[in-house]
Amino acid sequence: MAKRIDGKKISAAMLETVAAEVTELKKEGIEPTLAVILVGEDPASQVYVRNKQRACEQVGIRSVSHILPADTTQQTLLALIDTLNRDKSVNGILCQLPLPKHLDEEQVLLAISPEKDVDAFHPVNVGRITIGNADLLPCTPAGVMEMLRYENIPVAGKHCVVLGRSNIVGKPMALLLLAANGTVTVCHSKTENIAAYTRTADILVTAVGKQNFVTADMVKPGAVVIDVSINRNAEGKLCGDADFDAVSEVASCITPVPGGVGPMTIAMLMKNTVSAARAQSKK
Ligand code: GUN
Repeated sequence: MAKRIDGKKISAAMLETVAAEVTELKKEGIEPTLAVILVGEDPASQVYVRNKQRACEQVGIRSVSHILPADTTQQTLLALIDTLNRDKSVNGILCQLPLPKHLDEEQVLLAISPEKDVDAFHPVNVGRITIGNADLLPCTPAGVMEMLRYENIPVAGKHCVVLGRSNIVGKPMALLLLAANGTVTVCHSKTENIAAYTRTADILVTAVGKQNFVTADMVKPGAVVIDVSINRNAEGKLCGDADFDAVSEVASCITPVPGGVGPMTIAMLMKNTVSAARAQSKK
C-alpha cells in the first residue's frame, strides 16, 4: 500500500518558514505585498484567488486584489499592470488564468515585470528556468520538487515521466526534474502508447486533467505518483488523474487530490512573493 504524501502538512511547514521570513522583513521596514488580478467570474478562478488571499493573510503578506469585469479591455488590463509594475509598494503581480477569450494572454504575461512575476510565466523567467539560474520558480512544479525533497525521494538518475506539456505545469515540471538530474520523458496528447512510457517511470507526474487517466496497470511497482490535476467526478467531488485506490496498491508513494499538490502551489507563491520583496529591497 502506497504512502500518502500529505501536501497539507508539507505546505504548512513551508508557510511557517515563510511567515518567519515575513516577520524578519517587516523588522527591516519591508512589507511584502502581492497584487492579484482576476478578470471575470470563473468560479474555479474565484476559489483559487480566495485561497491565495487567505494564504497571504496567514503568513502576513499584504494582498491587494483587483477584481475586473469579464468585459475588461486589453488596454485597461495592460494599464493596470503598468501601474502595478511602477508601484514600489507592490512586490508581486499575479494575473489569474485563464483570461476571458477576447484578451491576449501572452501579451498580458509579457507585460508583467519579470522581477514581480511571482508565477514565473514571463519569457525571461522561463528562459532563466531553462538555463537553471532562476530566482522565481513556477509554483506548481516547484511545489512538486519541494514535496519530493521533503519525502527524501531521489530524482537524480531516475526516470521521470511527465504527462502533459502545458506552459503552467508540464513544460516547467520537466525542466525542474532535469535540473535535479532526472532522466525526463514528456508525454502528451499526441504520444503513441503512453503506457509504455509510464510503466518505466520511477517518478510519474500527471497533469492531464482527466479522471482515471492513470490506471494501476500503467504504473511500475514501487513508483512515486504525483497527481497535479484537479478534476470533478460524476458526484461533483474533486479527484486527480490517477485511479487513486487501485494505483495506491502498486505505487510506493502517491499524492491525494485534494490535499496533495494543490496546497504546495500556494505555499510556493508565498515563498516567491517573499523572494521578490527581498530582491527588490536590495536594489
Ligand atoms: N491558473 C491555473 N493555475 C494558475 C497559476 O498557477 N497561476 C495563475 N496566475 N493562474 C493559474
